[in-house]
Amino acid sequence: MRSSTLTWASSLCLLSALTSLTSPVLAVKEHDFKKCDQSGFCKRNRAYADSAAATGSSWTSPYNILPESASIKDGQFQAVILKTINDKGETVRLPITVSFTQAGVARVTVDEERRQNKDIELRHNSAARKERYNEAEKLVIVGGLELDKTAKAVGEDSTSSTTVQYGPDGQFEAYIQYSPFSVEFKRDGATEIKFNDRGLLNMEHWRPKVDAPEPKEGEEAVSPPAEEATWWEETFGGNTDTKPRGPESIGLDISFVGYNHVFGIPSHAGPLSLKETRGGDGNYNEPYRMYNLDVFEYILDSPMTLYGSIPFMQAHRQDSTVGVFWLNAAETWVDITKQKIKGNPLALGAGATTNTNTHWISESGLLDVFVFLGPTTQDILQKYGELTGYTALPQESAIGYHQCRWNYVSDDDVKDVDRKMDKYGIPYDVIWLDIEYTNEKKYFTWDADKFSDPSGMGERLDEHGRKLVVIIDPHIKNAPDYDVVSQLKSKDFGVKNKDGGIFDGWCWPGSSHWIDAFNPKAVDWWKSLFKYDAFKGTAENTFIWNDMNEPSVFNGPETTMPKDNLHHGGWEHRDVHNLNGMTFHNATHLALLSRKTGELRRPFVLTRAFFAGSQRLGAMWTGDNQASWDHLAASIPMLLSQGIAGFPFSGADVGGFFGNPDKELQTRWFQAGAFYPFFRGHAHIDSRRREPYLAGEPYTTIITSALRLRYSLLPAYYTAFHRAHVAGEPIIKPLFYTHPNAEAGFAIDDQFFVGNTGLLVKPVLEEGKDTADMFIPDHEVYYDYFDYSVVPTQAGKRTNMPAPLDTIPLLMRGGHIFPRRDQPRRSSQLMKYDDYTLVVTLPREGGHAEGSLYVDDGDSFDYEKGQYIHQAFVLDGNTITSSSAELERDASKVKAGAWLSAMADVHVDKIVVVGAPSEWAGQTEVSVTSGGKTWTAPIDYTPASGGRAAFAVIRHVGTAVGSDWEVTVV
Ligand code: NOJ
Repeated sequence: MRSSTLTWASSLCLLSALTSLTSPVLAVKEHDFKKCDQSGFCKRNRAYADSAAATGSSWTSPYNILPESASIKDGQFQAVILKTINDKGETVRLPITVSFTQAGVARVTVDEERRQNKDIELRHNSAARKERYNEAEKLVIVGGLELDKTAKAVGEDSTSSTTVQYGPDGQFEAYIQYSPFSVEFKRDGATEIKFNDRGLLNMEHWRPKVDAPEPKEGEEAVSPPAEEATWWEETFGGNTDTKPRGPESIGLDISFVGYNHVFGIPSHAGPLSLKETRGGDGNYNEPYRMYNLDVFEYILDSPMTLYGSIPFMQAHRQDSTVGVFWLNAAETWVDITKQKIKGNPLALGAGATTNTNTHWISESGLLDVFVFLGPTTQDILQKYGELTGYTALPQESAIGYHQCRWNYVSDDDVKDVDRKMDKYGIPYDVIWLDIEYTNEKKYFTWDADKFSDPSGMGERLDEHGRKLVVIIDPHIKNAPDYDVVSQLKSKDFGVKNKDGGIFDGWCWPGSSHWIDAFNPKAVDWWKSLFKYDAFKGTAENTFIWNDMNEPSVFNGPETTMPKDNLHHGGWEHRDVHNLNGMTFHNATHLALLSRKTGELRRPFVLTRAFFAGSQRLGAMWTGDNQASWDHLAASIPMLLSQGIAGFPFSGADVGGFFGNPDKELQTRWFQAGAFYPFFRGHAHIDSRRREPYLAGEPYTTIITSALRLRYSLLPAYYTAFHRAHVAGEPIIKPLFYTHPNAEAGFAIDDQFFVGNTGLLVKPVLEEGKDTADMFIPDHEVYYDYFDYSVVPTQAGKRTNMPAPLDTIPLLMRGGHIFPRRDQPRRSSQLMKYDDYTLVVTLPREGGHAEGSLYVDDGDSFDYEKGQYIHQAFVLDGNTITSSSAELERDASKVKAGAWLSAMADVHVDKIVVVGAPSEWAGQTEVSVTSGGKTWTAPIDYTPASGGRAAFAVIRHVGTAVGSDWEVTVV
């Protein structure tokens, strides 16, 4: 059962919901969720693709740009596409805009012109006629839209096409063909991406509903043609979706020319390199679906939708990445097929042997696609981040370890876990309360019997710098004695049903209403509920978990809201579904920013549902996984996929949510989780208690080492989060990102690099394994993290490493420098003023290594006022230097506040140089220069021995971490 406290279980209305929710710990019932042919618009668009393919080269897309409508001005191409809608040659008008931004991104937007024929509208269902949903931009895009006014039409004047040159140094071109309409995007003259090349553009135009004539006596009623059967109404699993606006889907084929791999469009439990979806050996038969749903106990290796969606895809081949962002919040499906290139593929560039053809299908809204021409994944992520925002810089605590379960049952229970973690020397930062802390699932209340003193509990946690996270879901219990629901109703802030009344559905509390967080006034009200004097028992170290925000509605279609529900502005839920979770997450994020006047703390809000842009608001996790080895393995490609889709602050429930991991699995999961960007242990209410200290020996010690490893690497992780915050970099990086030229690594998704540290991790993901085959992408030297041995490697090949249970396969690539804090403590806050260690790894050749450290108070927004330290470290030959990582910044001009002043006493204490040159042998001292002073520090050199590299340890370096300094060895 999902919950052992289902007070609502007796209700008959829930029978159907319960049958799907009480399944034993097995995979989700696939048939509870739609396949493409059970979703009218998906089926229609796939059928359209099939008929185009069957027609072959004589297929002509009925979309043509009206030549006289085309113009280009101030960075925008505008025209009208005419869609021929019948044999009589009648057309509808679809205005198209292609915008070229200063960053070199092209955006293609196609809308539908509202037709002037008032008669038709009046006669037929005119109330239902509305424009297409066009507010996704308002909620998703935060910048980067400034137009490149220098973008210009080039080439011959033509009435059949326009070529626009744009981007840095005019490197990009968009060739817009009028008839039939298509666009080719080129970089340096070569075509990279094509729109409508296969002629699958399909914008189902608005049409009046024509009722079938009444059958004459004795005659049978005529059914509509098969493809029209789902235009106005559709039923699935006993739920009927009425569609007052009729069919309005959009479809478009997007081809990546010369690209064999495509990545992105999370979240799916499948490989990082996306599979083909139209059958064939090892391929899927279904398109990737994006429709945020509560797909608990999800199946693996599947294109089924999950809890969140980011319709952003990248295509990669050797040394080239391009991408598209499909800005549409309605249910979306993507078919992927690949086609070997005939002829001379090398003409397209190294490794360009294949074209990947994709077909995007959304139920409603605008056609709105951003095109990125790379050439690197990082270029694309940077530009995508300019548009949709970068990862919020988290509290440092938020990247420590989180201890959660459904549920810690009382404040005594919380204090007991807290005490035991200390007793066993296990570091952690945050303890979590799931839904049972509330009084009968009424959020913003406490179960007073079990949590009689929440404030005292919060204060106790604060003694060791720890935080509390409590869950707040979007469903508000429909109960007579509950002030929050009374306010929701009286203020009219709830989501409406199709008839305009407040929507009532079932979730944890039983009958509930849902806040409509699309309504700015509802958001203001939501903010007021989190004020310290409103949500009593919370304090500055209380943070929030937003769950069930897909939204999950137990008795709704596919466990969510009916699509014909209504939101603020009169938009149907169908139009905005994938944005729903983000609007709720946003409301809570804003609420935490306004708990008191002049709030100083950064918010932390975990969300389950998400969309493009959610990275601005907090972290996500991959939902209800299972305590099984294959779910552990699935977590890595899922998190890598999040990272390259711009939302890297991600984790999976460590230990697995459903079921009981055995101790080996639990231990291995902690070792993997120690590298997740978001690191939280969580467990279902029916699972056995599994706090790390309960595992027993040797497991508890091994888990504790993994946790301490994470804590020692927090400075490196925080620096990586800073890169995510300013440039959209992933925290954990797949090999196609770090080694864009190493073809054999492109599809590898069970190992990754951490930020820019050169740390390469391959967690053990299989039962009973005591070795790991690590793929080595290059000719660089790799050292074992723990014993400094030089790992025998060959570029592009796997190397077998011992990995007994107490060992995490973790290598250090030569040529890097990363920061660490080596003193184990109970929480990250208690490490705040600890000294640093720098680890330097010598490369195979050239004696040069680089790295950086970013640090601020990890808590407030003072970093926005310059209260941070950002140093770049370089080893060159015999000298190691630290200098500002930001050339334009003069740190000495920053007036130091309390934290920055205190950091003057925080030192780089130790420098470990792995692979230290043999000339350093015999040295006993190094010279240190900083701030005009010079002193000496001791160095110990240990020569190479057996397979271990030589290494040197410089101690008591004594330089303030925020200062510039130089260490000279010989
Ligand atoms: C579903 C979430 O995915 C899970 O993590 C949580 O424990 C339950 N809801 C109860 O709140």
